[in-house]
Amino acid sequence: MEAYIMDWLNAMLRFAHFVTGVAWIGASFYFNWLENNLNRQGQQKEGISGHLWAVHGGGFYYLEKFKSYPNKLPKHLHWFKWEAYFTLITGFALLCVVYYYNANSYLLKSGTDISATTGILLSLAGLVVGWLIYDNVTKSALVKKQAIVALIMLVVVAVSAFFYQQFFAPRAVFIQIGAMIGVIMVFNVFFVIMPSQRELVKACVEKSELGEEIGFRGYIRSRNNNYFTLPVLFIMISNHYPIFYAGENAPIVLIAIFIITVLIRHYFNLEGEGKRGAKTALGAAVVLIAIAFYLLIPSKPKVIEGAKPIAYSQIALIMENRCSTCHSANPSDDQFTVAPSGFMLDTKEQIINAKDIIYTRTIASNSMPFGNKTHMTQEERDVLALWLISLKK
Ligand code: HEC
Repeated sequence: MEAYIMDWLNAMLRFAHFVTGVAWIGASFYFNWLENNLNRQGQQKEGISGHLWAVHGGGFYYLEKFKSYPNKLPKHLHWFKWEAYFTLITGFALLCVVYYYNANSYLLKSGTDISATTGILLSLAGLVVGWLIYDNVTKSALVKKQAIVALIMLVVVAVSAFFYQQFFAPRAVFIQIGAMIGVIMVFNVFFVIMPSQRELVKACVEKSELGEEIGFRGYIRSRNNNYFTLPVLFIMISNHYPIFYAGENAPIVLIAIFIITVLIRHYFNLEGEGKRGAKTALGAAVVLIAIAFYLLIPSKPKVIEGAKPIAYSQIALIMENRCSTCHSANPSDDQFTVAPSGFMLDTKEQIINAKDIIYTRTIASNSMPFGNKTHMTQEERDVLALWLISLKK
């Protein structure tokens, strides 16, 4: 019953996290697009810096951006913040339900000697430290040199990835880095963007002079958030692909994901603003993707010439001992009381039908058995590999 309830909680929170995330990122993409596409040419109306016509969903829209603030504060002013806050709240709850609640299986690396509590504290510390580093860098004079800020954040990602790989399960490393960047984004909204918007509103009400600094502070954080979006989204979904998270070189993959997705974002921004260098950014991203594709091709196990063919009975025994404690109609595992992902390996037919996916999870990556809870040996993996290859012939 407990596993059943946790599954429901997991599904509901994931859904809420996804929906609030879409709402937040959607609005953020839209406003970024708006900034890039405002018509600032020619004669503008008094006090207006740009305007834009659009047609969408059966109507025409006309938008104007003020140079500073309107003469009178409108009665209904829309703010965009709850989407961001709820993305953090649901995301953190999901982190607790999946990774902290079952820290021994989901958060910690198999064989690590730190306790679940230490693991959770390390994870929480990372969420705070990531923000403190970013916030202090962005408050310093370095803020004028965004390339250096990007480089520092790359170092933060790299160091964290290598650090957490020592203690965390491969998937948890990815989630940790994704969560760290996500926290920075939401804190940017809460601690900087919202306060600077409140100052903007205050200036409007009091008709006071608007310091350039206020606008810049909000602008830079929201621009940085825009660059963080693609890395976070990719890191979150890469959780479904052991080819990215399960290899020995997972930290390098994380670094590559950060660089490539930021380059893609950069391409869209430069292109949108009509600036030079857009094609170069895109070209660099494509080249890096090609390199990553090549480097991540799983190495083929060596086929030993003249080796005896593997008898199915050997495979059946391995599956029974190492896999169907969880992947069975009647699992014996203490934690997984129903077959994970509904995936069962009870019969020869089921095993043969799943040969490719078994190869991916057990040979190409070591992402199964889960946390190697059933202590599968390398010899067993080699035997399984030979058998799976003989099936492919
Ligand atoms: C301790 C429990 C446990 C054991 C033992 C285990 N798995 Fe899994 N398996 C899981 C969980 C949990 C998932 C779902 C999460 C995931 O995809 O990583 C899963 C998912 C899978 C998937 C993906 C299924 C799909 O449709 O997405 C495959 C394939 C798989 N396991 C193969 C194996 C093989 C082969 C073994 C034995 C060598 C094995 N597992 C042993 C828990 C286990």
